[in-house]
Amino acid sequence: MVDPTKGINSENTSCHHRNTFSCLPKESGNTSFWGMSVKKICCIGAGYVGGPTCSVIAYKCPELQVTVVDVNPQRIAQWNSDELPIFEPSLDEVVKSCRGRNLFFSTDVDQAILEAELIFISVNTPTKNYGLGKGRAADLKFVESCARRIAEIAKSSKIVVEKSTVPVKAAESITNILKANVKPGIKYQVLSNPEFLAEGTAIGDLLNPDRVLIGGEQTSEGQEAVSALGWVYQHWVPREKIITMNTWSSELSKLAANAFLAQRISSINAMSAICEVTGADVSEVAHAIGTDSRIGNKFLKASIGFGGSCFQKDVLNLVYLCECLNLPEVAAYWQKVVDINDYQRRRFSNQIIQRLFNTVTSKTIAILGFAFKKDTGDTRESSAIYICQHLLEEGAHINIYDPKVKKEQILKDLSSRPEIFDSPDRLNELVTICPDAYTAAADSHALVICTEWDEFANLDYKKIYSHMLKPAFVFDGRLILDHNSLLDLGFHVEVIGKRLTRDISRVVRTPAAGST
Ligand code: UDX
Ligand code: ADP
Repeated sequence: MVDPTKGINSENTSCHHRNTFSCLPKESGNTSFWGMSVKKICCIGAGYVGGPTCSVIAYKCPELQVTVVDVNPQRIAQWNSDELPIFEPSLDEVVKSCRGRNLFFSTDVDQAILEAELIFISVNTPTKNYGLGKGRAADLKFVESCARRIAEIAKSSKIVVEKSTVPVKAAESITNILKANVKPGIKYQVLSNPEFLAEGTAIGDLLNPDRVLIGGEQTSEGQEAVSALGWVYQHWVPREKIITMNTWSSELSKLAANAFLAQRISSINAMSAICEVTGADVSEVAHAIGTDSRIGNKFLKASIGFGGSCFQKDVLNLVYLCECLNLPEVAAYWQKVVDINDYQRRRFSNQIIQRLFNTVTSKTIAILGFAFKKDTGDTRESSAIYICQHLLEEGAHINIYDPKVKKEQILKDLSSRPEIFDSPDRLNELVTICPDAYTAAADSHALVICTEWDEFANLDYKKIYSHMLKPAFVFDGRLILDHNSLLDLGFHVEVIGKRLTRDISRVVRTPAAGST
């Protein structure tokens, strides 16, 4: 369990941050708004954001009743079962400790809206795949339908909190929908409260956030609402970490944070391409630049490209925003972050094909890891999907093993480009989902690390080598393996951002080069 008690009611009054909201309560008592106080919270959307976030709120605020609702009955049934719908370290323990006490999962969206004073909207906002802004703009249809539902159902005033990542000014649209449908005597305040949790570390991120961001209207009613939401977080987040600002800044900050993080990965991946050509080592370059305190050492790991539901979607969203604002140069700048990511994926799969003597047709390639990063079962925008599809296009057979991703999910992801397969059975002919890494590697020509799961670093590679076809290749797309040991075993090893044949440490270690 990640640090379950640290931080409860950690009140810090020595706040000097300019933007720490002065109206946040200094006392630990509940704050009232419009003569009410927050007792019941509803969260619409029981996904990767809503589920963990509200579980932690329930865990840290035992006096509040938190109900997470979703239109998907299967998802809700899973939240109420022993097998939660998402894999996230420590989430099980948090949910089990408060489910049925003050944390509830339900499909009764209307009842939860009726009862709550504060409503989080945590529904999905995927990239639009139709119409205006296709391929770039965020699709707000789910957010809008929540706003309309709230307006239709509510019989008392509500604070509506936009938790999903949305384009700048989405709060304004939600406000307009609510106000256009408002019933007499009811008031609404819409807040922006973007979530910064990363999958795989969500519980730790929620328990000890770098900051909590709350954007609200710069009116006294807006500030009352900010204060009420701030009070919820103050149960465990130090006051100086709760940053408040106007709604638009808050919305843009979320897009900016993800764009900056994605940009760092594209920057180091661009460096990795230079390293492979010149003989420099991208890990050494990352270490060297990361020791500069202005740059910092996090998020500098070269890889097969970033995946996940946020980075690409949010950068494209930013690009679309810039285009709409008639800022084409700024749009082009951010677009390059996504372009480099696509390039990195393609570069890696091309390298596999080239090293395997320029053809993978009918060859068997073992793919280790399908999730977009370790410690999650999420495959949204996973680079593994793109790499596998490219190899399948070239006629390869692929054996896939991932410790947390289910077979149905992998097959669904790979079939997203049906044109690759000339018949419906072709996918099943070419793809085998394996129960472990050894089965995947057996009789394969190459082993490809796509996700940095810890277990892949500790496999018995001697055994794997003995069961592979020769020459046996390893492609480490995550820089997690001991490359020199693999070379010693006889593998041909290819690594992102490093040319191993020129590895000076290996030359020194080789008896022929080092003796006499
Ligand atoms: C991200 C943000 O980190 C989080 O703040 C936001 O709320 C949601 O989006 P997430 O997508 O869950 O979180 O995971 P993250 O750890 O950011 O990784 C994203 C992708 O970048 C993964 O595919 C990961 O493997 C890759 N990555 C990350 C790298 O390739 N190199 C790095 O150095 C770091
Ligand atoms: P995220 O990663 O942003 O949490 P997910 O796709 O994991 O996104 O979860 C979003 C959830 O929101 C889904 O379970 C979906 O069923 C739910 N959802 C979408 N629209 C609505 C709605 N109008 N009412 C209730 N739940 C909704």
